[in-house]
Amino acid sequence: MAEHGTKPLGLDNGLTNYGDRDFARYLRRSMAHSMGISGELLSRPVIGIAASPSDFNNCHRYMPQLVEAVSRGILAAGGLPRAFPTVSLGEVFLNPTSMVYRNLMSMDVEEMVRAQPMDAVVLIGGCDKTVPAQLMGAASAGRPAIQLVTGPMSTGRHKGERLGACTDCRRFWGKFRAGEIDQCEIQTVETRLATTAGTCAVMGTASTMACLTEALGIALPGTAAIPAVDSQRLVAAEETGKAAVRLAHQPILPAQIITGQSVENAFRVLMALGGSTNAIIHLTAVAGRLGIRVSPERLNQISDETPVLVDLKPVGEGYMEDFHAAGGMGAVLRELRPLLHLDCLTIDGRTLRERLDEPQGWVDRKVIRSFNAPVSPVGGLIALHGSLAPQGAIFKRAAATPALFETEGRAVVFEDLEDLSARIDDPDLDVNANDVLVLKNAGPLAAGMPEAGYLPIPAKLARAGVKDMVRISDARMSGTAYGTIVLHVAPEAAAGGPLAAVHNGDRIRLSVANKSIDLLVPPEEIARRLATVKPPPPKQGGYQGLYQRTVTQAPEGCDLDFLAQPRT
Ligand code: FES
Ligand code: MG
Repeated sequence: MAEHGTKPLGLDNGLTNYGDRDFARYLRRSMAHSMGISGELLSRPVIGIAASPSDFNNCHRYMPQLVEAVSRGILAAGGLPRAFPTVSLGEVFLNPTSMVYRNLMSMDVEEMVRAQPMDAVVLIGGCDKTVPAQLMGAASAGRPAIQLVTGPMSTGRHKGERLGACTDCRRFWGKFRAGEIDQCEIQTVETRLATTAGTCAVMGTASTMACLTEALGIALPGTAAIPAVDSQRLVAAEETGKAAVRLAHQPILPAQIITGQSVENAFRVLMALGGSTNAIIHLTAVAGRLGIRVSPERLNQISDETPVLVDLKPVGEGYMEDFHAAGGMGAVLRELRPLLHLDCLTIDGRTLRERLDEPQGWVDRKVIRSFNAPVSPVGGLIALHGSLAPQGAIFKRAAATPALFETEGRAVVFEDLEDLSARIDDPDLDVNANDVLVLKNAGPLAAGMPEAGYLPIPAKLARAGVKDMVRISDARMSGTAYGTIVLHVAPEAAAGGPLAAVHNGDRIRLSVANKSIDLLVPPEEIARRLATVKPPPPKQGGYQGLYQRTVTQAPEGCDLDFLAQPRT
């Protein structure tokens, strides 16, 4: 149970120690009075609201309304709401990549939840890295916590078809690069891709993490997929506030919710969603905060046992608004029920079994398939191993081209991101459709692991109609992207992985059947080439230096090594 038993401590929680506790109490209450709060409210359980508003985060545009609705629920249930800001991460507005700052946000959340007087906390996030950061922070802080997500965007319209960020962003950019649409049309499309508040409209990273949060049991049932602009999202916020007050009276800690079993459930749901590759890194990092690890072998076992049930972009057809209308996470969890650990505790105090014992409403089977009539009989993601990735790599088979599953091809190598952008469209680039594009030095240590793994098809091939090629890197890719793409190669090139040894013209073999990725160069030659690889120059001071010295590789979740363990 919680560290402070069952009686909320309110403002007394974590009292500053001046060597005179009564003085500390008196001082804290006098400062609280200066905020104009009545004595009656000051005596209530205090519920923190970790909010992440920012004018650099479009996905969190409705944060103020959500904070207001959560506060309303807290007040109605007899608590005192106290909202506070943390770092906010708007995916496309951060340089070099939001991934670098996920761990920074997690530290902010952990420390502010622990340092300030609260009996429970509501975490409100949405955009890709924010929910993982909040879950990591809350897991480490060890106070009762409940997650609320901002919800997905609704779709826009263009020439009679629906558009949603960001799978359609890529689709239309691909058409523009191939010369199929002109400058005028791409500019029009630009204004129609992301038209409402909320997170990207497809089963990208943000939506995947929202769904996994509900699968873990740390968000209220049915709340993952409600559109950002739907009035029900405000109702969900109000209910989350009420639930947080219940948590203050009957504490449930993150470590009671996030367990080896619930993490396995979340990985299974990830497979059934055909969800984002990034979610593997994030879930690994969240679990790692509590000393929980799921092996790549177990991941592949779960993937092979779990069908893809959800027909959403980027893997399939629909958008998140369709998923919500189709029955949402309740429908998915009920299809997976025989494979789930049902004794897992959820944040409303019930087990997953008790939740799923309640009847499910109507389900749209075009969007959420039944277990026996799935989109695909096996899960969306697998781990690969081999001489090119001794510690593993990730492959989204659900979003790849089956004709390329067994490929042996000639490597076309780009040394880093600058080399890629300088040469990919060079008309003289020696490349054909059967080659394997390789990007080095885009891993966590070298570059903060940007979403550069979706290497563009070289312009001359794109114009000739090539839609997909095997692409390999130590980078990540956006959850909204698709293609035959091998990601998260570990160790990364900058950490001395064999990826650093690949030369133009080497042969590389991908086998999805064998779950392998191999560099067809003799081991002694690979070792000889690696002996000359130098680590990146050290970054000076500050957070960047800390990050570079301590970031872990993808199979450990890219956390900072000193954060990735249970707090004592
Ligand atoms: Fe925030 Fe896509 S930009 S979820
Ligand atoms: Mg994304």
